[in-house]
Amino acid sequence: MKLWNKGFEPDKLIEDFTVGADRELDLRLARYDVEGSMAHIRMLESIGLIESSELPLLLAALERIAATIERGEFTIEEGVEDVHSQVELMLTRELGDMGKKIHSGRSRNDQVLVDLKLFMRDELRSLSEHIVTLFNRLQSLSDKHKDTLMPGYTHLQVAMPSSFGLWFGAYAESLVDDMEMVAAAYNIANQNPLGSAAGYGSSFPLDREMTTSLLGFATLNYNVVAAQMSRGKTERAAAYAIASVASTLGKFAMDVCLFMCQNFGFISFPDNLTTGSSIMPHKKNPDVFEIMRGKCNRLQAVPNEISLLTTNLPLGYHRDLQLLKDIIFPATTTLCQCLDMCDFMLQHIIIKENIVQGEQYNYLFTVEDVNRLTLAGVPFREAYKEVGMAVQRGEYTPTREVNHTHIGSIGNLCNDKIAEKMNKVVKKFGF
Ligand code: ARG
Repeated sequence: MKLWNKGFEPDKLIEDFTVGADRELDLRLARYDVEGSMAHIRMLESIGLIESSELPLLLAALERIAATIERGEFTIEEGVEDVHSQVELMLTRELGDMGKKIHSGRSRNDQVLVDLKLFMRDELRSLSEHIVTLFNRLQSLSDKHKDTLMPGYTHLQVAMPSSFGLWFGAYAESLVDDMEMVAAAYNIANQNPLGSAAGYGSSFPLDREMTTSLLGFATLNYNVVAAQMSRGKTERAAAYAIASVASTLGKFAMDVCLFMCQNFGFISFPDNLTTGSSIMPHKKNPDVFEIMRGKCNRLQAVPNEISLLTTNLPLGYHRDLQLLKDIIFPATTTLCQCLDMCDFMLQHIIIKENIVQGEQYNYLFTVEDVNRLTLAGVPFREAYKEVGMAVQRGEYTPTREVNHTHIGSIGNLCNDKIAEKMNKVVKKFGF
């Protein structure tokens, strides 16, 4: 069934090529398509395009479709192009001409737009919840291990004392910035495009404020052309947010791989959470974090993919936009899986104590000793030279005392302040 049937069937080759993966991908939009249709027909009834007697019948039929979707039994039939056509087909099969009325004042262009906005809103909300879970995990690990020192590196060379408190806490705070991007993407998605129809509005007196409030959108994409142009733009904003989270998580995964390496040996995981080698019997590999790193690195290409897909498209609908779904749908899912997996692994992380007592980390403490001399009255440059010369002569022995107290340092992590920052950002979602 084609909604645009004009008495001929398109070539099967053409149909397969243009429908692409939609029959499967659109399943994720099904519940939103029904939700959007419910709002649309309530509105149509309010402006007299659907009879008051018809509305409850249509709503009940849509409820039944929603239940099929909930049960996981909804499919898009062979020969049906997309979810929008499938829902309309089911309504028409059940209610005849009444079902055929619901598309008044609507196009699949604004229908898919509204589906996507509702979908993206939910995906970004769920993403924000996954981020908060990992954030809390990192913060609690930071508190728990705040007194355990680890070497800090610059240029991958031993530099200054750091701590597990700093390490975990740093990634928690980094997620706050990512959350700002997620909140921005959420707010961009949280606008009603319905009523823009094919992209130029309708001669029916559509009540767009009514559908906005029925669908719980914060506001509308007012200008109908802007509404249509938000296809791609919404996805791009989400992609930037996804890429931002992915870059934090990918970096953390890299740290974990490095710190698990025997030459570092700062952390480990229970045997059953590591993976082996088919030839080297001793291996306990960090494959989880390698896959996580790889997935997160790929996710950082998503904004680029979207940009390339949409660059040079002039205003108005183009079928190219359909391909956005192929890019953005798996991206949010993959990122949430990675966040989940990271949180799971961190529940089992084993931290090595007394790392910095090792001889190889002697030079970690040079700055501490320079500062100690400086506090005792030696000008900083003199103190630096004194310690530097001792290192040069091979006579440097560290005191190994670490006393950092300023804001954000080893001894004053300010995790409570960071939690406050996160709470403030979460409020921007206005759930
Ligand atoms: N599958 C289409 C998409 O995602 C639905 C909209 C089709 N609109 C059209 N004018 N052909 O874009």
